Amino acid sequence: MLDYPIQLNTLEFKAVVNELVVDCDEVVETGTFQGNGSTKIFAETGKYVITMECNFNNYQIASQNLRQYQNVVPFHALSLKRDYLLKFLLNEKFDLNTNYDSPYPKTFYMREIGDNVLFENGLNLFCNNDRKQLIFLDSAGGVGYAEFLQVMSFNQEFLKNKILILDDIQHIKHIRSVATLLEKGYEVSVSQENRFAWCRLNK
Ligand SMILES: C[S@@+](CC[C@H](N)C(=O)[O-])C[C@H]1O[C@@H](n2cnc3c(N)ncnc32)[C@H](O)[C@@H]1O
Repeated sequence: MLDYPIQLNTLEFKAVVNELVVDCDEVVETGTFQGNGSTKIFAETGKYVITMECNFNNYQIASQNLRQYQNVVPFHALSLKRDYLLKFLLNEKFDLNTNYDSPYPKTFYMREIGDNVLFENGLNLFCNNDRKQLIFLDSAGGVGYAEFLQVMSFNQEFLKNKILILDDIQHIKHIRSVATLLEKGYEVSVSQENRFAWCRLNK
């Protein structure tokens, strides 16, 4: 198993974010956790930050941790529709030679997305448009690829205005997302320890 901390707040991540965010209107994040990792780095850019967290306890802690950042709105929300996510997990084979979070990943990830939320399908709500956005996908391991596929299904003209950052690229979360980007001919940059990757979708 990988032994990364859950929070992504390394100096390298901060430098990459600060470089990429310059031309963006806002940052949209899936997976706030408790707000003291990636979200804080986005918050400190001064750009608008929209972040979604499906676990109510994490959402409440994140709201406290982020309260001084007026440019940030944490939502208790699901990135995609719950029934879509559950079907995706039901049919997921979990047979790739990669990292999972549990010996029973299907039920583990189904539990992770189980809380009642304020709204579902947040990625479609916030990102299916032509706005210039930095989109950071960092939610449940088992649904990272589903989120990636959703973003890539948006109109090609919209994608030209999006920059994607993917966390956990040696993990079920995004190992296939990076492979798919490379297959499609996108240029993908990878962090020093092969933990996260970024890609401008304006090819
Ligand atoms: C790896 S943690 C995020 C870490 C955070 N980005 C950081 O750097 O501190 C993943 C979080 O995503 C939440 N989550 C899982 N699936 C989700 C979904 N479909 N939509 C929104 N949040 C989700 C989990 O409850 C968990 O808190």
